[in-house]
Amino acid sequence: MTISETAGAGAPAQRSSRGRLDGKVAVVTGGGSGIGRSVVDRYVAEGARVVVLERDAQGAEELATHGDRVRVVVGDVREHETHARVVEEAVRVFGRLDVHLGNAGVYDYNERIERMPPEELSAAFGEVMDTNVLGLLLGARAAIPELRRTGGTLIFTASSSSTFAGGGGALYVASKHAVAGLVKQLAHELAPEIRVNAVAPGATRTALSGVAPLDSGSRRLADETGLLGAIERTVPLGFVSEPEDHSGIYVMLADHRDSRFMTGVMIASDGGLGVGRRPRRGDRGGI
Ligand SMILES: NC(=O)c1ccc[n+]([C@@H]2O[C@H](COP(=O)([O-])OP(=O)(O)OC[C@H]3O[C@@H](n4cnc5c(N)ncnc54)[C@H](O)[C@@H]3O)[C@@H](O)[C@H]2O)c1
Repeated sequence: MTISETAGAGAPAQRSSRGRLDGKVAVVTGGGSGIGRSVVDRYVAEGARVVVLERDAQGAEELATHGDRVRVVVGDVREHETHARVVEEAVRVFGRLDVHLGNAGVYDYNERIERMPPEELSAAFGEVMDTNVLGLLLGARAAIPELRRTGGTLIFTASSSSTFAGGGGALYVASKHAVAGLVKQLAHELAPEIRVNAVAPGATRTALSGVAPLDSGSRRLADETGLLGAIERTVPLGFVSEPEDHSGIYVMLADHRDSRFMTGVMIASDGGLGVGRRPRRGDRGGI
């Protein structure tokens, strides 16, 4: 049976308008909030059907507004069995899998190494690394057989902290640098069948949380007005982004027609951090 014959299996009637992702099926981890939620909304608007893996029950419930175009599995990205269930759900309900986005993540709230209680360091390291790195590896491992079948693609949410220091503490920056390594290595291993790319956002107004061992499990980035204000003053484009500012890039990476010669790439969407801090008014630069 060809790919196009299987495309509609178990699906609701196709919508009449054409979207860039019509007929595609995607998995999005952490799709109940922030950047992931905005990708889910945009993928659906472009005609895709989506299975979301989300640990937060409320975020999962709110996805019901998408009706039968979105299925949700409530679970943890740190568990292999959960990823296997998500991929099975995509194939059972929607007939295939074209795009797997590893996006769920946690932050360390810029905790400096000297301020981390040494007895909590292993637990904090485990939570950040297991969520931000192992979670992506487990998702990729579960998705690869189906992506090989469809000539699909892996996408990760990296960060400006995949390139620069100072946007997080040692745990977050190390975890996001590891994501940059995963993009390169998996692109190398999985070519030519599966493309592997990432979007690297800079500061974005979301509910991004910290981790319990650093006492930041209930913090939300969007509430940190001091931190966000400082970022606005230094980022070259002069504002903190909203989740929707990045979602079109995820569409491009999911759409073979627009990115079929791209693999192993991390696309920055960070307000221009690569050109340095925004000069102050009257500051003519120089050394
Ligand atoms: N907000 C930013 O400034 C920013 C900047 C660069 C990169 N990022 C990255 O973007 C990604 C999405 O974060 P966001 O900012 O949208 O935050 P968010 O908290 O709004 O979204 C993250 C989602 O992942 C879920 N999640 C977290 N841990 C999970 C787990 N173990 N299992 C299942 N689901 C889990 C959360 O419940 C949440 O719904 C993360 O990888 C983050 O590192 C965020």
